[in-house]
Amino acid sequence: MTAEPPAQTPPTIRRASAADVPAIAALYGHHVRHGTASFELEAPSEQRVGERLEAAAARGLPYLVAELDGTVAGYAIANPYRPRPAYAWCLEDSVYVAAERHGRGIGSTLLASLLERSADAGFRQMVAVIGDSANTASVRLHEKLAFRHVGVLENVGYKHGRWLDTVLMQRPIGAGADTPPR
Ligand SMILES: CC(C)(COP(=O)(O)OP(=O)(O)OC[C@H]1O[C@@H](n2cnc3c(N)ncnc32)[C@H](O)[C@@H]1OP(=O)(O)O)[C@@H](O)C(=O)NCCC(=O)NCCS
Repeated sequence: MTAEPPAQTPPTIRRASAADVPAIAALYGHHVRHGTASFELEAPSEQRVGERLEAAAARGLPYLVAELDGTVAGYAIANPYRPRPAYAWCLEDSVYVAAERHGRGIGSTLLASLLERSADAGFRQMVAVIGDSANTASVRLHEKLAFRHVGVLENVGYKHGRWLDTVLMQRPIGAGADTPPR
C-alpha cells in the first residue's frame, strides 16, 4: 500500500495590516529583483509598500495576506485597472507567494478570496496583466480560477536582459455585465 502524502495545512486569509508591511516588502522585493512577473525594476521600500497599503484601505480595495505557521506566506491585492472613471468597476489583481511556498495552493486560496471580496464590494470585472508569457504558474493559477485568455501584448517590457510580453486574462465577478453597477 502506498502512503498518503502529508496533508497541507491551509493558510489563514485575512486583511493585510501595517504590521505585515515588512514581510510583504521582503516577499515582493524578492520577486521584483529575481522575477519577471512585476515590471518594477527596483524593489519598493517598506515605506512605499506601507503607503500603497494605506491607499488601498482608503479606497476600500481588498488587500489580503495568507498566513501560515505565523508568517506571511503570500499576499493579494486588487487595484483599479485604469484610473479614468468609467473603469470604476474593473479591478486588476496581483498575487505573490513566498518563493519557498509555491505550489501548495496558497495562490489559489488567496485569489479565490480576493475575487469573492471584490465581488462583495460591488466590482464587476477582474483583469490579470501577467508579466511574461513564460509565467506558467500565474497563467495556470488564473485559468484555475475561471479567467479566460483575452490576448497577449508582445514585447511591451524589458527586464533582466529580455523583452517581455504581458498575458491578459479576465473574468466577470458578481453580476458581471448582467446589470448596471450599483
Ligand atoms: C503565480 C503564483 C502566485 C502561484 O501561487 P502558488 O501558491 O504557487 O499557486 P497554487 O499552488 O495555488 O497553484 C495554482 C495552480 O497553478 C499550478 N502551478 C503552480 N505553479 C506552477 C508552475 N510552476 N508551473 C505550472 N503550473 C503551476 C498549480 O499546479 C495549480 O494548478 P492545479 O491545481 O490545476 O494543479 C506563484 O507562483 C508566485 O508568487 N509567482 C511569482 C509571482 C507571480 O507570478 N505572481 C502573479 C502576478 S500576476
